[in-house]
Amino acid sequence: MKVRSVKGTADVLPEERAAWRRVESAAARVLGNAGAGELSVPVFEYVDVFTKSVGESSDIVVQKEMYVFEDRGGRSLALRPEFTAGIMRAFVEHGMHTRPLPVKLWTMGPAFRAENVQRGRYRQFHQVDYEVVGSESPLADAEAVQLMYAVLEECGLTRHVMLLGSVGDPEDRAAYNAYLREALEPRRDELSEVSRERLRLNPMRILDSKHAGDQALIADLDRPLERLGEASRAHFEQVRRYLDAWGVPYRVDPGIVRGLDYYRRTAFEAHHEGIGAQSALGGGGRYDGLIKLLGGPDLPATGWAFGVERVIDALAEEAAADDGAREPRLFLVPLDEAAVDEAAALAARLREHGTVEFAYQRRAPGKGLAEADRRGATHAALRGASERAAGVWQLKDLATGEQRPASEDDLRALLEFSA
Ligand code: HAM
Repeated sequence: MKVRSVKGTADVLPEERAAWRRVESAAARVLGNAGAGELSVPVFEYVDVFTKSVGESSDIVVQKEMYVFEDRGGRSLALRPEFTAGIMRAFVEHGMHTRPLPVKLWTMGPAFRAENVQRGRYRQFHQVDYEVVGSESPLADAEAVQLMYAVLEECGLTRHVMLLGSVGDPEDRAAYNAYLREALEPRRDELSEVSRERLRLNPMRILDSKHAGDQALIADLDRPLERLGEASRAHFEQVRRYLDAWGVPYRVDPGIVRGLDYYRRTAFEAHHEGIGAQSALGGGGRYDGLIKLLGGPDLPATGWAFGVERVIDALAEEAAADDGAREPRLFLVPLDEAAVDEAAALAARLREHGTVEFAYQRRAPGKGLAEADRRGATHAALRGASERAAGVWQLKDLATGEQRPASEDDLRALLEFSA
């Protein structure tokens, strides 16, 4: 029997790993510079940590997306479907409220949801997650949006857009849900099955329906942003003023509702048009009240997460649209025996600046170039007696076929240029 991977899980192969590292280091740099500390939380927790947090009307609970299992002691555990709940559990457990507020935290790792698998939707996926605890200020929200935009930009994305909305305070949500119920209850039978369930549990989520019939029914109804109370409206306007002042591009989306129940006031998402139906790169918002719900002090908090697979998909789409501009990879081809040692030594010196490989044996030029191509190089540099005499390598761009003599400095510049 041939063994296979589980549906909705994926291996990350060596040639794909560089993009992952790029995302991780972008997050570490941008979030670290904003004063966020990196932490790790366990992959599994007591199931209550999640059910309490994400809420009974979230897809994670309603559509039974959590991987729940019993350990040998009969305790009910779950693989984390997201990070916020576990991070807040850790925040409470380690008394982090005694640290200088606001406390900013970030993490990256795998999360698990038993979803219907399609492009951008997997059963094991990865998130970069950022949380800031202890501030009610719209500055914390605006900074969170700005940081999400900046991390995505640092990853190399240029075509991501931020959507900003507000789901209001709990009173606003209750009023809005009552408004939707009143409007939709008489037409209940026309709604899709999922939306009928949402009408019962959390009508606001009907706005997220992709069902055309549902969309037609709600087309003329007010969006949450149009029915905010005074306090949440003022908060929202303030978040906008900061983002405008900082030049962070975003669009107001009056209909943003998030899939987890813990949000209040600010809600935002990052989207990318290149990655298909699951176009959300990430999302987040304010979730005052969650820490108290988990038995901690009543501290306000804001945060977000983005999906690493979706960001990498978007990066690949952008690279393809930009004619496949690639990081340089250099392959050194020794044309005689003496050049084998020279290639090995040069590779050792250049690797500080980028990816360099070399053939372990003397090669004929044609064979050397073919090998460079097979190994995914963008450029090959060849060296034989005449290059040695001139103190250069013969550098060939494998995409364009262009060839020119290059000194060691030139090769270093090639690697550094797009590093
Ligand atoms: P979320 O919207 O459920 O929010 O997930 C955030 C992002 O994770 C999504 O936009 C998507 O890119 C990615 N994602 C979610 N599910 C999958 C999946 N099955 N396959 C691939 N990617 C997926 C949260 O998780 C909140 N905890 C965010 C947050 C942090 N709010 C406050 N703090």
